[in-house]
Amino acid sequence: MSSYSNNHTTSKVTTAQLQAMKDAGEKIACITAYDYTMGRLVDAAGVDVVLVGDSAANVMMGYDTTLPITLDDMITFSKGTVRGVKRALVVVDLPFGYYQGSIEKAVDSAVRVMKETGAAALKLEGGVEIREQIERILAAGIPVCGHLGLTPQSVNKFGGYGVRAKGDTEAERLMNDARMLQKLGCFAVVLEKIPAKLAAHVTQALTIPTIGIGAGSDTDGQVLVVQDMLGMNEGFKPKFMRYFGHIGETITGSVADYVGQVKNITYPSSDESY
Ligand code: KIV
Repeated sequence: MSSYSNNHTTSKVTTAQLQAMKDAGEKIACITAYDYTMGRLVDAAGVDVVLVGDSAANVMMGYDTTLPITLDDMITFSKGTVRGVKRALVVVDLPFGYYQGSIEKAVDSAVRVMKETGAAALKLEGGVEIREQIERILAAGIPVCGHLGLTPQSVNKFGGYGVRAKGDTEAERLMNDARMLQKLGCFAVVLEKIPAKLAAHVTQALTIPTIGIGAGSDTDGQVLVVQDMLGMNEGFKPKFMRYFGHIGETITGSVADYVGQVKNITYPSSDESY
């Protein structure tokens, strides 16, 4: 049995195992989760990485952007998720405003998440502009995953959620950032919503794994937001999104069934009563 084998044992996936997967050409399956129950369910499915993404701002809290979510919110979501996940590597997003401003704040935020949640690694959005923050967090012994391309915390700078790095200048900057993140010691880089050709190029150029979302099939792995891919937000259907279920319909249908049975007193039955 190889060290990267996805054999559903209870031992935790490590960043070294993700590297071994890239080296062996085995794809990395990553998905988000934000609570104990979802963490347990996605872990049982054999995902390699569970990301407690700041997309929790959207899918758990109903905000339009990821900007309002706080470090305390992320810590609460992460604590529950970590308790549910037995095997996958749990990575937590540092939220907007907790690492961009100062190196001290970045390290304090990073240390708080690691200390209070039991997660294994962090993800930060950005390249050269947060170089020193990444260096210092890595120096504190905390594994860091980079995130380039469409970085939703910068939505106001971009003016929307469109595909990034379509032109040569931005593509070159992204490639330089990716090489820099690798050189600093990041264990992986998320590539969000960039042309598939560029993602393939970056993936070939790097020795560390790339994990794509809306970045084509040639990255070393894929990540999706769990509520989106399960069809719990069926109004949200960017080009890269595939529904692997229609759980939203199932939930609403099942709860409607429950409501009906409460109203017409078919639930609970005498067998379901004490
Ligand atoms: O917050 C998130 O869920 C993410 C992924 C979409 C990569 O950053």
